[in-house]
Amino acid sequence: MKEKEQWSSRFGFILAAAGSAIGLGAIWKFPYVAGMNGGGAFLFVFLFFTLFLGLPLLLAEFVIGRNTQSDAVSAYKMIAPGTKWHFLGYLGMATSFLLLSFYSVIGGWIIYYLFKTLTGSLSGLTPDQYSAVFEGAISNPGISITVHFLFMLLTIIVVANGVQKGIERASRVMMPVLFLLFIVLIIRSLTLPNVIQGLTFLFEPDFSKLTSGAILAALGQSFFTLSIGVSVMVTYSSYVPKEESLPKAALSIVFLNIFVVILAGLAIFPAVFSFGLQPNAGPVLLFQVLPNVFNHMPFGMLFFLAFILLFLFASLTSAFSMLELQVAILAKGDEHLRKKWAWIIGLSIFLLGIPSALSFGPLSDIHIFGKTFFDVADYLVSNVLMPLGAFFISIFVPLKMKKSVLFSELDSGNTIPLFLFNVWFYILRYVAPVAILLVLFDVLGIWDK
Ligand code: PHE
Repeated sequence: MKEKEQWSSRFGFILAAAGSAIGLGAIWKFPYVAGMNGGGAFLFVFLFFTLFLGLPLLLAEFVIGRNTQSDAVSAYKMIAPGTKWHFLGYLGMATSFLLLSFYSVIGGWIIYYLFKTLTGSLSGLTPDQYSAVFEGAISNPGISITVHFLFMLLTIIVVANGVQKGIERASRVMMPVLFLLFIVLIIRSLTLPNVIQGLTFLFEPDFSKLTSGAILAALGQSFFTLSIGVSVMVTYSSYVPKEESLPKAALSIVFLNIFVVILAGLAIFPAVFSFGLQPNAGPVLLFQVLPNVFNHMPFGMLFFLAFILLFLFASLTSAFSMLELQVAILAKGDEHLRKKWAWIIGLSIFLLGIPSALSFGPLSDIHIFGKTFFDVADYLVSNVLMPLGAFFISIFVPLKMKKSVLFSELDSGNTIPLFLFNVWFYILRYVAPVAILLVLFDVLGIWDK
């Protein structure tokens, strides 16, 4: 039998998992969701959920994946044979299917900016002109569907050609360079006129602004940025060698993620206030703000081009993980089937994404429960499906896996104090499921009755 493919180095797994985690969630979604939910208090709650629920849950997914070394459906079957728990794998498939369909629309916007910077038509405009150019493009059905298609095409090509070859190599270089460019961007942003207003918005918690909807959005955001509740991390950790320390990997990913969220916030909010834009502009926020900041620096368009390329890369590495989850389940290690399924699933996702792509143009007036198609898909994924997936995973691990097995999975590589192990175990067993349900019920207004 062919030996199971593994990451080629210790670092390879962390890079790939961080690649899945760091993407549009931290860079594009966080600023706009924080902007719509009042800023500082949102950041605070987001950090709280990320550390106390996100980190333990990420580790739980790692343990499932490495312990079983198989795809997301078989993993649950192996641990709990003869039960229905493998529905979690199918839930992950459905969630990442819907997720990638609108994720790719935003990925397409990045590709649009790539073309624009390459043709030099983005320099020297006023904030209003930038917004007009951008809105003109995303409301144009031809443009928005084409770039959405291109993003999916890139994703399909890489995933069709296999996990290691496709994903691992490039992350080594791209991620560190992305951080460097962020620093350049932040220096510019922090020297703009309304910097204090931006920093106050981002960091000063005004808890009176926290509605139940904002708390759910923060929960969803923290799962979204860590790729949790979808079993993507189960899939990725199934390629991890036994010696690798899972807690270390989880910690590095969580902190990298928080780091990027803060970087993005620092880059965006001072600029929002300095260019007279609105923090609650919604999904278009980042795209309206960025060209202005770059426009106001020497060699701005060159930096912008570099930033766009890296941003595209960061989003693609997340997109790969969403498609990889499905392909791993369907192809079960067969290279020929991998290609076939990557294309079939990828193209279906493209089709499902079309209404989301049109939500900023011809379909912008079609509302379901008061939201556009794009917003419904995003809400369903971030605020319903991911929290539900996380809820069931946190119940599954302490219920169906032996404590001794869990301990040895966590302990490999280095020694973990029993105390910390117990903290993790009881957070999963009691705290996480209860907290997730409380937040979900709160939004349904159950407590108000
Ligand atoms: N974490 C990714 C991001 O922030 C999104 C993602 C969610 C990827 C779930 C895979 C699974 O962009």
